[in-house]
Amino acid sequence: MPGRQAILREYARLAPGYDRRWSSYIQAGVRGTLARLGARPAGAVLDVGGGTGALLAALAQSEPPLGVRLAGLDPSPEMLAVARSKLAPAVELRVGWAEEIPYGDATFDVVVSCSVFHYLRRPMAALGEMARVLAPGGRLVITDWCDDYLACHICDYVLRLFNRAYYRAYRERECRVLLEALGIGPVRTDRYKISWLWGLMTAVVQKRGGAA
Ligand SMILES: C[S@@+](CC[C@H](N)C(=O)[O-])C[C@H]1O[C@@H](n2cnc3c(N)ncnc32)[C@H](O)[C@@H]1O
Repeated sequence: MPGRQAILREYARLAPGYDRRWSSYIQAGVRGTLARLGARPAGAVLDVGGGTGALLAALAQSEPPLGVRLAGLDPSPEMLAVARSKLAPAVELRVGWAEEIPYGDATFDVVVSCSVFHYLRRPMAALGEMARVLAPGGRLVITDWCDDYLACHICDYVLRLFNRAYYRAYRERECRVLLEALGIGPVRTDRYKISWLWGLMTAVVQKRGGAA
């Protein structure tokens, strides 16, 4: 699959220093995602491309515990090893790709994915998998860079030229169109600055059916 080896190499290299180097960016993504998640998850939560586990750690530390079952999926064993070192053994971590999620249909009440979308060569395949493992009434929450912001747009241009792991960033409207094409339920998107330079967007899709 194109790009996969480059992603694995990139994150094998970045994993040991990832939390330290990107701490404020990671925490901004976690805060932005949790703030837009709405009602606190009480069931099972899957973090797709969970990396070093920042979002799962935030969920696990919330008092009272927000998720009764927390799980993380990431293709990079090195990123998952960092996550393992800071998460309780009850938090399930698996090696795998968003395009082939190794869980059954309707397993999770919430599926989140933070700062992963710009790596996806086949975004609809990944979104389809996230929708498949989401229970009726569950919420899919995607946070990523937003190409509407100038700094993200320039960075997107440079990374497309020089970074083989990277694929592309999306504008808020493009992200909404992709999620609406998924056809599982209403989509809400929101973009926001996390520093004077950088901006993120978060999309929330509520899957039809059930009672989340
Ligand atoms: C920028 S890091 C974000 C990690 C974490 N979500 C966070 O917010 O700190 C991107 C992560 O996406 C993972 N990733 C890249 N392509 C992926 C794919 N197709 N499926 C699942 N994860 C992927 C990488 O291994 C890496 O851990």
